[in-house]
Amino acid sequence: MLIQALSRNDRRRFSIVTKEAVRVKELAFQYPDTEEKTLKDINFTLRYGEILGVVGPTGAGKSTLAMCLNGLIPEVIEGELEGEVYIKEENIQDFSVADVSEYVGFVFQEPENQLSQMTIEEEIAFGMGNLGVSRSEMEVRIKDALAQVGLTGYEKRSPLALSGGQQQRLAIASVLAMRPSIMIMDEPTSMLDPKGKNEVYDVLQNLKGYDMTGIIIDHEVERIATYCDKILVLNEGEVQAFGTPEEVFTQIELLHQFQLNAPQVTEFLYRYNQEYQQDVKLSTTVKEAVATFESEYTGKV
Ligand SMILES: Nc1ncnc2c1ncn2[C@@H]1O[C@H](COP(=O)(O)OP(=O)(O)OP(=O)(O)O)[C@@H](O)[C@H]1O
Ligand SMILES: [Mg+2]
Repeated sequence: MLIQALSRNDRRRFSIVTKEAVRVKELAFQYPDTEEKTLKDINFTLRYGEILGVVGPTGAGKSTLAMCLNGLIPEVIEGELEGEVYIKEENIQDFSVADVSEYVGFVFQEPENQLSQMTIEEEIAFGMGNLGVSRSEMEVRIKDALAQVGLTGYEKRSPLALSGGQQQRLAIASVLAMRPSIMIMDEPTSMLDPKGKNEVYDVLQNLKGYDMTGIIIDHEVERIATYCDKILVLNEGEVQAFGTPEEVFTQIELLHQFQLNAPQVTEFLYRYNQEYQQDVKLSTTVKEAVATFESEYTGKV
């Protein structure tokens, strides 16, 4: 085992010791029988506790990148991999997918596909079973994970009787109970209705204090902009931008080039500047935009 499952206190201590949770260095990947590399020279780092949002058009390589981070590539999905991925300063290529899965949790797009057990508590226990967690510790973690995702009291119900949003929250609870250091989510809300999307993002927002590093691939720009600490824009396997939401989402022309949008408020300010030949500072939050208008433009517009 590479790193023992850490208690919350351990994690706090650990976060003081190490600042770098993820380092991706000169990563490139080519699937067999394809003409071009799907990922090209990807470089970025994430500090412990940071949440990264990955955006990019269809086919950009987002899911491929996620699979390089949990070791599925190249062990299960073959191809030519170059460069390195370090999680907590360990090169994951030195470990098997099973070892990596102990500290990199994965939440998939379709909630039903990741649920296999008869009851919700069995569902959460299932992942922990593979880690050799004791029965008494499992009970503590099941209780804790269900509380984290707002499903306390649902222990004996069938996962299949839940709504899509609840199922995705259960999938998140199953990952949380395994106490991974990194949680990767590949479009976790894209199959959900607006209510389900809200439920999942509300849960994620609450997890921010949990001291876990996260990577979320999602087309929900409004949410990504408020929820994430860093944003990575991927197009044709290349990093086009990496930085804070403010740094990335104010590069509107770059985003438009890749059929991506910034949050509505930023798009509005951009259009306002264009149509009225103004130079209002682009903001990514309504609060900041209102403050800018109030301080600089009251009485002038
Ligand atoms: N197993 C595979 N073999 C060959 N090519 C593949 C394989 N899986 C994906 N690809 C190709 O790699 C490229 C990137 O795919 P990927 O699924 O990583 O993109 P994505 O950004 O996740 O797209 P989406 O937004 O549609 O989920 C695409 O051109 C895709 O066709
Ligand atoms: Mg994908």
